[in-house]
Amino acid sequence: FFSYGTKILYQSSDAFQSKFFPPLQKAMLPPNSFQGKVAFITGGGTGLGRGMTTLLSSLGARCVIASRKIDVLRATAEHISSQTGNEVRAVQCDVRDPDMVRSAVSELISVAGLPDVVINNAAGNFISPTERLSPNAWRTITDIVLNGTAFVTLEVGKQLIKAQRGAAFLAITTIYAESGSGFVVPSASAKAGVEALNKSLAAEWGRYGMRFNVIQPGPIKTKGAFSRLDPTGAFEKEMVNRIPCGRLGTVEELANLAAFLCSDYASWINGAVIRFDGGEEVFISGEFNSLQKVTKEQWDTMEELIRKTKGS
Ligand code: COA
Repeated sequence: FFSYGTKILYQSSDAFQSKFFPPLQKAMLPPNSFQGKVAFITGGGTGLGRGMTTLLSSLGARCVIASRKIDVLRATAEHISSQTGNEVRAVQCDVRDPDMVRSAVSELISVAGLPDVVINNAAGNFISPTERLSPNAWRTITDIVLNGTAFVTLEVGKQLIKAQRGAAFLAITTIYAESGSGFVVPSASAKAGVEALNKSLAAEWGRYGMRFNVIQPGPIKTKGAFSRLDPTGAFEKEMVNRIPCGRLGTVEELANLAAFLCSDYASWINGAVIRFDGGEEVFISGEFNSLQKVTKEQWDTMEELIRKTKGS
């Protein structure tokens, strides 16, 4: 078989055609599902965070978005608000800095009230051979991803406990948080910690009315992620070829899942880690899945060879 393997290029077989899995881009939940609710979204100015904010706002939530770049946040807040008619506020916050997190959360509470939904989406990542990383590179990624999530969760959680209010927390991780992955080692390590944090608090803080869930997205094309994870554009085709659904995910699909998990329709979902990757993870990990590349003629030959071994 392996002598075939070296000769075969990836081909688009039926199983890899995306026509079977077109993305539905419209809102899944009924209108006003988040009416009267407050949502706090870190990294809400761009990419996935912006997409989740847009959907929550269109479903009636009052959204507060936070990140380092206040200009980007304000432009996003104004744009979404003008589309949905619902207020979106921008709060500057570097999640690595616990003092900034504290003041951002107090600003959140003063402009919008305690949140019903908290989405830990802010992240930092870039591909790099691990031996090239300085201690500061390691600290930068793990600070944003793990410590940032912990600081936001602790600060909001303590305020909610004090006020005897519940909330739905959601963290955005990645499929390699479980498997680990070379070339993104600080991110893999930190995202694994984020999952442990959320599963642990799902157990501990359920008694305070808080739920904690995680989405592990596979590749979804956003500028922030792809400029750091596929800077030349060379890997995109390779990624698509290993996604059984035959295409990348979309921001709108992720937003629908996120909104569902944070809504009252999901009030019994707690401590869940949901893989959202078109089947990429199972494809990568299944030992024989590269047989996808084998052509019909090659199967005929192999079947013949296998049948010949009968009785031997
Ligand atoms: N390869 C190796 N090291 C790198 C690097 C790369 N491509 N990019 C940055 N670093 C190192 C820097 O050299 C620095 O270490 P040093 O002080 O020892 O030299 C350290 O990482 C911090 O970099 P810096 O640019 O100062 O950090 P920052 O706080 O300004 O930016 C990043 C943080 C690097 C994560 C930046 O990419 C970012 O702002 N990302 C946010 C969005 C994002 O990453 N989205 C993708 C999510 S999938």
